[in-house]
Amino acid sequence: MHNNFLYVNGDRFIEFIDKEKIQNRIKELALEISKDYKNSVPIFIGVLNGAFIFMADLLKNITIEAEVDFFKLSSYGDSKISSGQVKMIKDLNCNPNGRDIIIVEDIVDTGLSIKYIEELFQHYNPKSMKVVTLLLKPESLKYEVKIDYIGFKIPSQFVIGYGLDYQQKYRNLPSIYILSNDGVN
Ligand code: PRP
Repeated sequence: MHNNFLYVNGDRFIEFIDKEKIQNRIKELALEISKDYKNSVPIFIGVLNGAFIFMADLLKNITIEAEVDFFKLSSYGDSKISSGQVKMIKDLNCNPNGRDIIIVEDIVDTGLSIKYIEELFQHYNPKSMKVVTLLLKPESLKYEVKIDYIGFKIPSQFVIGYGLDYQQKYRNLPSIYILSNDGVN
């Protein structure tokens, strides 16, 4: 295996999940979801901005009929640490009432965003709601949330690439990089 480093403002990031591994795992997730919803037309709802790349690759591998929508929550801004507050910035276009909803996240960290989304969707009265996330940081969870489909469980270190940003940049990297100043490699 070759070491692939990236330096950002003096911080060293190492390639942690390469693009091939990401794509293979997404195919598995899409197969599982397509089987679970074979008698339904679910609405995949991506949480902007981070989920846009995962959402696209996931949907390309979904083999059943499906609809797509997005919404946007207030972001962490340029901070690496959650402000502890969430609000809706861009609302849904679809009507989730009576529908099977699949929330698509790039990462679940503290679980605050998913907890907010769970409460929000209770008012929309969907038939069902499940959550798929590419990444989960189990040791960072502060809220009790149910995540139905998980791509990869990762350590509680800062990650960038494949939709995830550092000060809004690096979302376009096809692999996921992890902060590794402490020499993890
Ligand atoms: C990230 C990510 C999740 C949330 C997860 O979004 O996309 O929505 O944080 O963290 P939590 O579990 O602690 O709530 P962010 O607010 O950074 O915005 P972005 O998607 O535009 O990068």
